[in-house]
Amino acid sequence: MRSSMAKQGPGNGLSSQLLDWYDRHARILPWRSRSGEAVDPYRVWLSEIMLQQTTVPAVKAYFEKFVEYWPTVEALAAAPLDDVLKAWAGLGYYARARNLHACAKDVVERFEGVFPQAEAELRSLPGIGPYTAGAIAAIAFDQPHAAVDGNVERVISRLYAIEIPLPESKPEIRARTQALVPVSRAGDFAQALMDLGATICTPKSPNCLICPWTEHCAGRKSGIAASLPRKAARKQVPVRRGVAFWIERPDGAVLLRRRPEKGLLGGMMEVPSTDWGEPPPAPEQESPLAAEWSALPGLVTHTFTHFHLELQVLKASRILDGVLRDDGDYRWTKHDDLAGEALPTVMRKVVAHVLGEAAKPRRE
Ligand code: ADE
Repeated sequence: MRSSMAKQGPGNGLSSQLLDWYDRHARILPWRSRSGEAVDPYRVWLSEIMLQQTTVPAVKAYFEKFVEYWPTVEALAAAPLDDVLKAWAGLGYYARARNLHACAKDVVERFEGVFPQAEAELRSLPGIGPYTAGAIAAIAFDQPHAAVDGNVERVISRLYAIEIPLPESKPEIRARTQALVPVSRAGDFAQALMDLGATICTPKSPNCLICPWTEHCAGRKSGIAASLPRKAARKQVPVRRGVAFWIERPDGAVLLRRRPEKGLLGGMMEVPSTDWGEPPPAPEQESPLAAEWSALPGLVTHTFTHFHLELQVLKASRILDGVLRDDGDYRWTKHDDLAGEALPTVMRKVVAHVLGEAAKPRRE
């Protein structure tokens, strides 16, 4: 965090109020530099990639582990991909870990190990989209860029009482946010907005009484803050169905399979299942091995962006032939090690369905 007064753009009292608040209340997070400390772009980039679609508490321990194993971008680039994937296990979305490694290599090969500062160059790197490029440009290099994620959309929709639903309101929110970015301390401003969204301007019950923007918040003044941002009604999504096979060896290890690299949940682990469409008339014949099956009561359901999934779980009550029927990427995992596997939420739900509360799904 940098102290000293922010140089303001025209009419930008709002940002200095937020920065004053941040100077007193900034969260202490492992990837943040303390006042007076130089900012390390590697740490900023690493944290932003880890935080994509994941929560701060879920990321902290992973971040500490990564910077301990690989303290520089060169060290990460030189690491075997498998080691990186292993260290990432449990954080979700394996494609991100692959991109992380590819990005580290690209920074070393194309930019001699120095992260580029220009947003366009940042965007040319694997795994860096508009949000992440803006966040890195602002936080690592103090460039006046906005980093607009879901939290910031909520804060800005409320501040300006924007009632147009998302995603239609995105251009307005982006323009409003950009107009608030101060000429200096843009990085602190980006992080202050994140902290405000995470700690005060929370989705369900914003704590307006202690908000540094309470006096200016149009959403609060008209009593609609908590109902913002409005969201367009979700489109009806089709239902797909399938059958998952729960197979345990006598020593208690469970059969898992790695999904193909390309496609939905690419490279992540799964409880083997039939295709997701309609369950085949005789699903047992699509199981990884021959067994006697018993159907567990109930269904596992999960909604993806484009479809809703219902999985029935068949549990092998007796393995008839331990030979696997195909050459998929299978492995046996002990119950205690299931939490460390890169199982997507839907598969954690399957685990929880079979084992009860033992393996609750975690947010990705
Ligand atoms: N969410 C995304 N980026 C973040 C950051 N740098 N600090 C806190 N929360 C974040």
